[in-house]
Amino acid sequence: MTIPTRRIGALTVSAQGLGCMGMSQGYGAGDETESIATVHRALDLGVTLLDTANVYGRGANEELVGRAVKGRRDGVVLATKFGIAAQSPDGPTIRGDAAYVREQIDLSLGRLGLDHVDLYYAHRVDPNVPVEETVGAMAELVTAGKVRYLGLSEASAASIRRAHAVHPITALQSEWSLWTRGIEDEVLPTCRELGIGIVPFSPLGRGFLTGKLNASPDADADLRTKMPRFGGENFEHNRAIVAALEALAAERGVTAGQLALAWVQSRGDDVVPIPGTKRRGYLEENVAAATIELSDSDIAAIEAAAPADAFAGDRYAAGMMRAVGK
Ligand SMILES: NC(=O)c1ccc[n+]([C@@H]2O[C@H](COP(=O)([O-])OP(=O)(O)OC[C@H]3O[C@@H](n4cnc5c(N)ncnc54)[C@H](OP(=O)(O)O)[C@@H]3O)[C@@H](O)[C@H]2O)c1
Repeated sequence: MTIPTRRIGALTVSAQGLGCMGMSQGYGAGDETESIATVHRALDLGVTLLDTANVYGRGANEELVGRAVKGRRDGVVLATKFGIAAQSPDGPTIRGDAAYVREQIDLSLGRLGLDHVDLYYAHRVDPNVPVEETVGAMAELVTAGKVRYLGLSEASAASIRRAHAVHPITALQSEWSLWTRGIEDEVLPTCRELGIGIVPFSPLGRGFLTGKLNASPDADADLRTKMPRFGGENFEHNRAIVAALEALAAERGVTAGQLALAWVQSRGDDVVPIPGTKRRGYLEENVAAATIELSDSDIAAIEAAAPADAFAGDRYAAGMMRAVGK
């Protein structure tokens, strides 16, 4: 099992990356030994793109990823992010001012134990700071050798255009999956016009599209408890849709999660999803999906089984929803 490569902007990466967030927060308790073994297995399988952020586990995730890549840095495309400075029930505090950008890269590099990162994303666009200021400060980091390429996450088409005029943007990381298709109307064509690669996050719908989640998460620390899609009646409604996806997958001898990943990957050669897991078993299942070829009729069948507009509930609670698409 080896994974092919794809281009995002000027970068060549494995056709699927590894999301590391869940190793330190969000989806149930992690285990450092298995998490590091998962990163190592990913590298062994040819996965080169590793995704973290300063905010994941309040820095603990960058430290974990740093330990995992120690001695294995060559060939790794290490991506991290800044911008979610605090979280509260009313929503996140977003910062994109130049002073914050300059301060955060040094903190991230210190936690990672690296002298540079390959891809540095603004995690959200700060509505109170011109995006030109944010990207101008990010561009200074390229000149200083601390960062190789720049990215944005959950940005609007207009912000992407303005940012790209200051410094080339290599990648746009936004949520994209069978149940989250909001980027398709404006953001995607803008990225394609500008030669910006797409890195879909939560391509497995935070685990939901695998069909292996059979009850609403209820642990306080689980991010999904705050997401309307995962609550009560919405959960039951949405679970029935995933059952149809599972049936389709079984007919084809694959899993629902693999179909969901193959569908994202089929969106174009400039698309590199980053499914997240902290377990080698899931990783191997996910990587195997990178070589699944879907025919037009497969895609039609998948979209008929799990149409985006059939799912109930917003992807984020109101406060987080206000921070996306800026
Ligand atoms: N830019 C942003 O704002 C943003 C937001 C969210 C995430 N991200 C990034 O994107 C990455 C991926 O997104 P995500 O982790 O939120 O969601 P995801 O990849 O859609 O799903 C992750 C969840 O699915 C489970 N899972 C993974 N593979 C599985 C399999 N084969 N079978 C059954 N369950 C499986 C994981 O379980 P285990 O945890 O038990 O392994 C975890 O609970 C993150 O790690 C993070 O780096 C970025």
